Amino acid sequence: HQTERESMMVVTSFAARYFAERLHQSDEGKSVGLGYLRERGFRDDIIRKFELGYSPENKDAFTREALRKGFKLEFLEKTGLTIVRDDYKVDRFRGRVIFPIHSLAGKVIGFGGRVLRSDAKTAKYLNSPESEIYHKSRILYGAYQARQEIARQDRCYLVEGYTDVLSFHQAGIHNVVASSGTALTPDQIRLIARFTKNLTIIYDGDSAGIKASLRGIDLVLEEGLNVKVVLLPDGEDPDSFSKKLGGEDLQGYIKEHETDFIRFKTSLLLNETKDDPVGRARLIQDIVRSISVIPDSIMRTEYVKDCSNLMKIEEHLLFSEIGKLRRKRY
Ligand code: CTP
Ligand code: MN
Ligand code: MN
Ligand code: MN
Ligand code: MN
Repeated sequence: HQTERESMMVVTSFAARYFAERLHQSDEGKSVGLGYLRERGFRDDIIRKFELGYSPENKDAFTREALRKGFKLEFLEKTGLTIVRDDYKVDRFRGRVIFPIHSLAGKVIGFGGRVLRSDAKTAKYLNSPESEIYHKSRILYGAYQARQEIARQDRCYLVEGYTDVLSFHQAGIHNVVASSGTALTPDQIRLIARFTKNLTIIYDGDSAGIKASLRGIDLVLEEGLNVKVVLLPDGEDPDSFSKKLGGEDLQGYIKEHETDFIRFKTSLLLNETKDDPVGRARLIQDIVRSISVIPDSIMRTEYVKDCSNLMKIEEHLLFSEIGKLRRKRY
């Protein structure tokens, strides 16, 4: 499929240029698209760095321009940029602000598009469909812009969304990627592992974000990486919170609130259970289960020591439970 993939990427890179040009040069793009981004406080250098764009309201303005330039409808459809039904063609991202998604090599392989006004009827974000060039579960938004800094800092921050990545960059934190939603996959963790073995999850400070953090912890441990978590105040996400604090205070907050997964689970669950022995037992089981998925035995031992100290429980008991779980699994 090499030539097909190439043809698709010629289309997506044309589309990215088209959308960026609409954003910066058309009246509609400037007033509606740029207006929206500026109102949210995004600086021009960030808008340019991430090659943001705007897809006009008109139902097929992009598709007509692409066809006029000689691009084949086949590839417009395969990349998901044009939705084709019989002889009816419509731009998938019409009327949205565009976030191009790059491969690690810097090629545009897909897009996210955000509505300008949220209402119940339309999905807040639309994304490119799965295709030969775009596999949502294998890519992380921002990885191309972050990869060098992830390696240099030897740490990667993982956030939920497009605007979280933008705001971190704007705050001077460049080692950040987004899982674009919450379903983190092993492939995405392996992608990070090429640059660092240290991952910090900073998801939204709501119940969905906390749930996703807990799920993410075990996945990250399973891939053999070290994982930390930063819990944001209720109702904040990395974008909103970084705008509230500003760059310097944001870095301070992260340093201060970064906790390893055992302490994260402990502080979450201990709130509910207090000193109830049944609750404590359940918490210990939960931590033990997470430790048991770590592939490296030395790393497991370190976490056992940690858990033993924190929960005032003997190491050999923890080791024995972990052994049982591992034997059951393999
Ligand atoms: N997402 C999506 N489709 C949706 C909602 C969310 O694909 N209908 C993805 C997007 O990548 C989004 C991420 O999930 O960036 C996180 O969702 P959410 O926290 O709801 O959005 P925010 O990133 O906070 O978006 P914004 O600040 O623009 O409202
Ligand atoms: Mn193929
Ligand atoms: Mn969210
Ligand atoms: Mn959010
Ligand atoms: Mn947000």
